[in-house]
Amino acid sequence: MTGGQVDAARPVGVFDSGVGGLSILKALRAQLPAEAFVYLADAGFAPYGERGDAFVIERTRAVVRKLRDEHAIKALVIACNTATAAAVHLVRTEHPDLPLVGVEPALKPAVALSKTGRIGVMATRGTVASSKLRALHDSLKGQAEFILQPCDGLADAIQNHDAARIRALCAQYTQAIGPFGKQAGQVDTLVLGCTHYAFAWDTLQALVPDVSLIETGEPVARQTHRLLQAAGQLQPGEVPGRVTLLTTGSQEALEAAAQRWLNL
Ligand code: DGL
Repeated sequence: MTGGQVDAARPVGVFDSGVGGLSILKALRAQLPAEAFVYLADAGFAPYGERGDAFVIERTRAVVRKLRDEHAIKALVIACNTATAAAVHLVRTEHPDLPLVGVEPALKPAVALSKTGRIGVMATRGTVASSKLRALHDSLKGQAEFILQPCDGLADAIQNHDAARIRALCAQYTQAIGPFGKQAGQVDTLVLGCTHYAFAWDTLQALVPDVSLIETGEPVARQTHRLLQAAGQLQPGEVPGRVTLLTTGSQEALEAAAQRWLNL
């Protein structure tokens, strides 16, 4: 480990249960092109969403330890709503010196965007059941009506690049959230509250063509930029930073996904 050493050349760690966080990595690379990133997909232990808090907390702790000890990360982006909901407070307490960004379903931006005031939220069972999402939901009481939909199996289908299952589950869950449209009483905004779901964007948009979809890559990348700047750890220059892909699952599958979605 490099201890408290300030060295802007050190990588930013990005972690998810699998390939979903690549949607966040994409936005991070666009916003912070010179930074080096170490992306860790905990695919050997995915999906997190239906496994319960104790499991997700244990995995998150192990992954953060590994990224710090073996890769000397200078900051961490938890690119997973489920892990953020279950464990971000613990990571903050246990690593007070580590600049940390989590992700949460974009309920506030959805309120600003929605005209009908009816907003669908697709997320994992773990995120939907979390006290963190409940608190966010409660803080927006009276500003909009949210339909919170746990989407069992969808992250797994995206993880396994199973197009038929992705389509079937997206159809099933959007049907449960609707009716969609721009009239009063209809859902006009759909929050993708799991980073995997960004990779089902086209499928979802085809199912609900008139609805605004919201994901969280850009605001997370902006927040990471702010934190690095405040810590004096922004990597200067124009030379594209190196991206290291690590996984506890199949390296081949992760590289194929990174190639498919990020041209890496
Ligand atoms: N990508 C993760 C999220 O944002 C979770 C997927 C899973 O492992 O269930 O919630």
